[in-house]
Amino acid sequence: MASTKIHIGKFNFENCFMNAAGVYCFDREELEKILNSEAGTFVTKTATLSPRDGNPTPRYQDVPLGSINSMGLPNLGFDYYLEYLLELQKTHPDRTFFFSLVGMSPEDTHTLLKRVQESEFNGLVELNLSCPNVPGKPQIAYDLETTEKLLTEIFSYFKKPLGIKLPPYFDMVHFDQAAAVFNKFPLTFINCVNSIGNGLILDDETVLIKPKDGFGGIGGEYVKPTALANVHAFYKRLNPSIQIIGTGGVLTGRDAFEHILCGASMVQIGTTLHKEGPEAFKRITEELKAIMDEKGYKTIEDFRGKLKYL
Ligand code: DHB
Repeated sequence: MASTKIHIGKFNFENCFMNAAGVYCFDREELEKILNSEAGTFVTKTATLSPRDGNPTPRYQDVPLGSINSMGLPNLGFDYYLEYLLELQKTHPDRTFFFSLVGMSPEDTHTLLKRVQESEFNGLVELNLSCPNVPGKPQIAYDLETTEKLLTEIFSYFKKPLGIKLPPYFDMVHFDQAAAVFNKFPLTFINCVNSIGNGLILDDETVLIKPKDGFGGIGGEYVKPTALANVHAFYKRLNPSIQIIGTGGVLTGRDAFEHILCGASMVQIGTTLHKEGPEAFKRITEELKAIMDEKGYKTIEDFRGKLKYL
């Protein structure tokens, strides 16, 4: 049968699927459920220097075609996740995990990354440049000047494998400009895409979530065409050493197959995992393997990036 093993940088994963940051990753209890599922690995909830309560509730709602959220970076703080990750390195030395981070300021981000650099952590860092939900804080990666400055500073001291979680871009010129910036740095991966920021979903005459008068990040079926476009636009523009994690609108094995055709190595699942729970990994993996078997693809490399044009 087909294999869904992949590698990111020097790290090997038994399965190309994992959670998307924010879903099933708030605490040890949730992360353990991903650890013990069919997923190849997990990413922790984006950690800030200090723990945060996040925005007022209700702040996440599933809807028929996806989800809307304005969580506001609730998390248990950097030390909590680092301690758990270091423990897992001892109990699961054959596995590699992703540590999602961002500071509430550039100074905080440097403090966090310097602590990771000094620590025993030997996995991958996913630096979140795309949180749309903290009032007054723009999505960092929509400001390419700030992003380039931040990455220049980071890579002066940070020597461990690092990737960035990106918001969706919607213009060919922005793909060109963003890729030109990312290609200047020894990034291990980019992750496309975070939620489509600041959408509105109504129920009768009323918004669905409390923060920001109902504005929130959109996930699920709504975002797949945008996600595929971002994965493929960057696949065509980035140095081949920068791998791509595809995130957005993965409900089925077919959706994952499309992400990989567009150039994704790993595939993350957010809204569907929230709706279905960690059992989703088994179903979606089996669906992807069935498609690969039918088409005669034995490995992910056999079809990654091989999207056909008219
Ligand atoms: C949150 C949402 C995001 O999409 C993100 O990248 C980081 C944080 C949040 O609101 O907690």
